[in-house]
Amino acid sequence: MLRMTINGQPFETDAQPDTPLLWVLREHLGLTGTKFGCGAGMCGACTVHIDGEATFACQISLAEVTDAKITTIEGLSETGDHPLQKAWIAEQTPQCGYCQSGQIMRAAALLANNPTPSRDEITEWMQTNICRCGTYPRIIRAIERAATES
Ligand code: FES
Ligand code: FES
Repeated sequence: MLRMTINGQPFETDAQPDTPLLWVLREHLGLTGTKFGCGAGMCGACTVHIDGEATFACQISLAEVTDAKITTIEGLSETGDHPLQKAWIAEQTPQCGYCQSGQIMRAAALLANNPTPSRDEITEWMQTNICRCGTYPRIIRAIERAATES
């Protein structure tokens, strides 16, 4: 039995240890805010926090997250009012929306470690997460807004 904490709740599973975390989040727990994009560590749609670190959930196995604290977009804020979520609304950031939970989770890890990043630091940090709709300018503005207003 593998144990971990997901969005503050204890979770046990008898899934195979090599199962990617993303599968368990979406298929076992119904936490579908974390998206399956490429499944190959190339897009960032599946970004969650593992012990506070932005991590691709498609690329990490259950065995690697045993006893870890995992946070998904559903657990970022109890009421959906994390400064980034408010800034995302204010800047009308999403287009199709598919990449955006991963973008927010990656941005949240940045602001947790660097509350006032420069534009260059934001651009550098966010470049692992792809947006096929090209919302990058709005993503950057939203992160800057959240950094200013939080
Ligand atoms: S789905 Fe995980 S990086 Fe693309
Ligand atoms: S908003 Fe469509 S992929 Fe980013």
